[in-house]
Amino acid sequence: MTKDVIIACDFSSGAETIAFLGRFTGKKPFVKIGMELFYAEGPKIVRDIKDRGHKVFLDLKLHDIPNTVKRAMTALRDLDPDITNVHAAGGRAMMEAALEGITKPDGSRPLITAVTQLTSVNERMMKDELLIASGLEETVIAYAKNAAKAGLDGVVCSPLEAVTIHKECGKSFLTVTPGIRFTGGDAGDQARITTPALAKELGSDLIVVGRPITSAEDPVQAYNKCLKEFSGKGE
Ligand code: C5P
Repeated sequence: MTKDVIIACDFSSGAETIAFLGRFTGKKPFVKIGMELFYAEGPKIVRDIKDRGHKVFLDLKLHDIPNTVKRAMTALRDLDPDITNVHAAGGRAMMEAALEGITKPDGSRPLITAVTQLTSVNERMMKDELLIASGLEETVIAYAKNAAKAGLDGVVCSPLEAVTIHKECGKSFLTVTPGIRFTGGDAGDQARITTPALAKELGSDLIVVGRPITSAEDPVQAYNKCLKEFSGKGE
């Protein structure tokens, strides 16, 4: 997949999202629809944004027993997202069930990625709250390898982990990386952050950028800056 910037459209309504995307005249950025928008608007928002010509990463991070995840994925199948995802913490059987559920009778399916550890999680939280004694990087790599064994296409991880994941799981195993901030930008609730340029250097395949674009004074300019730094495209 060619390097691209995915805008995390974490808005609370479809109207706000469509108005935001309307500012990108002549451009159709790759859009991430997360829980906030999906729960507020329902599946129709995915169809609406796809109908407007955008690629969609449907970021619902499924995490449940295998049968439930399989059936939920089947319910999402006809929305034709380009990418969707699960939590790797659900285990290999759950990830395999996700693949089964999302695959259409003709064998086609979107890309499926697994969240390793959220980019808001740090090693102290893992040790103190989640009781995971292994280090952050070790855990992320183990989860990524498990996702690869389940047949998934890649992982959602921090750009800081992309180099090792590519080394361990292969160059074509996708790294979709949130936790992106411009130099001097506000980290907010993200713990493991990099700039778009560093994400490129570290080998991220797709970067997910929310607030640095959606809260910018000029979102189109911020998007172009991101695209240029990360992929060399854009004005
Ligand atoms: O605003 P910001 O750039 O921090 O947005 C990042 C987006 O990526 C959010 O929509 C968040 O849910 C998502 N995400 C993340 N870390 C992960 C997986 C997804 O930040 N590990």
